[in-house]
Amino acid sequence: MTSYTELGLVNTKKLFEKAVSGGYAIPAYNFNNMEQIQAIIQACVETKSPVILQVSSGARKYANQHILKNMAKGVVEYAHELGYDIPIVLHLDHGDSFELCKDCIETGFSSVMIDGSHLPYDENVALTRKVVDFAHSQKDYVTVEGELGVLAGVEDDVSAEHSHYTQPEEVIDFVGKTKVDSLAISIGTSHGRAKFKPEQCTRDANGILIPPPLRFDILEEIEKKIPGFPIVLHGSSSVPIEYVHMIEKYGGKLTDSVGIPEEQLRKAAKSAVCKINIDSDGRLAMTAIVRKILVEKPEEFDPRKILGPARDELKKLYMHKNQNVLGSAGRA
Ligand code: 13P
Repeated sequence: MTSYTELGLVNTKKLFEKAVSGGYAIPAYNFNNMEQIQAIIQACVETKSPVILQVSSGARKYANQHILKNMAKGVVEYAHELGYDIPIVLHLDHGDSFELCKDCIETGFSSVMIDGSHLPYDENVALTRKVVDFAHSQKDYVTVEGELGVLAGVEDDVSAEHSHYTQPEEVIDFVGKTKVDSLAISIGTSHGRAKFKPEQCTRDANGILIPPPLRFDILEEIEKKIPGFPIVLHGSSSVPIEYVHMIEKYGGKLTDSVGIPEEQLRKAAKSAVCKINIDSDGRLAMTAIVRKILVEKPEEFDPRKILGPARDELKKLYMHKNQNVLGSAGRA
């Protein structure tokens, strides 16, 4: 049994209180490997941003739970060495069972998500409450994120064909009965790099897909029902078109890619939305640079010369998000 405080991590409680009152969102970046976590920490230290390191169950299978835990411990020391101690949360993304959440809590996670959003309402409440009771009874309080409403899209082990918006009339009951610390909602974001079908979008003069706007009316209704309560947005990659073009230029094929425009995320970050989840954009940035190097330098076979520049690009992307989209820069 390892408690997250032994690893130098924090839970989300204070971070979310400050983010909601300060009108910004904490970045929740997914990672599976060393270069990703290095880029995240470099970017967040340099911009003095708090950060949530997210591990999905797919990442756990890919990288191994002991390795991931020790990477999180390692980057606490790395941030210190870089010269600035930022608050770092280790969070389970889309936990799908009590057992998985318990396992993560017992191996050093400071925050978990239990995603019962696909279940009938009462079952979602019961499962979420069970995880909350366990997490909150730990010596060091572990924070829990629940979800109401279903996001469309595909990501690791999470996939849904159709979305269902969160129903504002359910949130008071859900938050009251489950005692969650934050609530993920569905207002039109979606997982993956192709967030909408082309027929749901319009196109600009260059043929680039323009997605339907997020349902800020639903967000406002929710905020009225549970004022100041921390809200989470999943599926919030912007899918930068430059990366899509670069990947396609160097042999990739990413038809009909479309993300959430940055100005909509900026607007959301100023509201009670205090955690914004980003995974696909990091994948796109790394893939774009790796493809470019492999094509332009066919003689290269040192992984450091391939993954190192990809890591640098990732850092640039995350710095941009912290500074210009989420508003988390300077808040650590
Ligand atoms: P994206 O696919 O938009 O990056 O969403 C990631 C996410 O929500 C992780 O839970």
